[in-house]
Amino acid sequence: MKPVTINTLQQHKQDGIRFSCIAAYDAIFARQINQAGVEMILVGDSLGMVLQGHNSTVPVTITDMCYHTQAVARGNQHAMIMADMPFMTYSDTKSAVITATALMQAGAHMVKIEGGQWLCDTISTLVCGGVPVCAHIGLTPQSVHTLGGYKVQGRNKEQAQQLLDDAIALEKAGAQILLMECVPASVAARIDKALAIPTIGIGAGAQTTAQVLVLHDMLGLNPQPAKFVRNFMLDADSIQQALSHYNQAVIEGEFPAPEHTFK
Ligand code: KIV
Repeated sequence: MKPVTINTLQQHKQDGIRFSCIAAYDAIFARQINQAGVEMILVGDSLGMVLQGHNSTVPVTITDMCYHTQAVARGNQHAMIMADMPFMTYSDTKSAVITATALMQAGAHMVKIEGGQWLCDTISTLVCGGVPVCAHIGLTPQSVHTLGGYKVQGRNKEQAQQLLDDAIALEKAGAQILLMECVPASVAARIDKALAIPTIGIGAGAQTTAQVLVLHDMLGLNPQPAKFVRNFMLDADSIQQALSHYNQAVIEGEFPAPEHTFK
């Protein structure tokens, strides 16, 4: 398979082809995810909760993120690797440049940052410097303490409009992918339609260009899964088969189903 690049994913959006992404943190799973045909791996700061046992992503450091990005890059063959910039490492443009440099040198092909229009200058600087950026809106877990918990975002008219305005501004600033977490399916669908860049959803309905799930959630290892998670191990004989079923289900538009979405 040819390496997946940002051009591949942007072409998918233009052609109306869905693609899948999995948040994973090590070499052995990166290899299996590649074999399942999944086109993108997110080295997510969710590793703070999944691997380290914290109750938020706030304690995750750039040292942690580089360590796991290097591990994923060693196991990767052709997927595009996106890495999260950790909490407060991009609060000003200079810090963002230092963080993005470390992640790209660790093997990431793209970085992800959480937030709205306040990130526009940072995104322009990173993109001009050669760093593709995914902007993450909706439920932004690094802001759990300002949001007052892990809650669905954009449920009223004003909040939904704010998300749309943010999405348009972020694309204009140079973001090459937009990720939406825990927003009503109708809001995510409207945003996907308004943008030329691919959108990735998690708890954002079936009308985004792509879907992402955390590996350990989709393998049924989380004792308290969120509404948007499907356990792909339930009808699989192996982890490899569960990963392939997930990829197929996303491409065919069978996942997420209405029971995984918010109104
Ligand atoms: O850190 C992560 O894994 C994420 C996904 C949940 C989107 O940001």
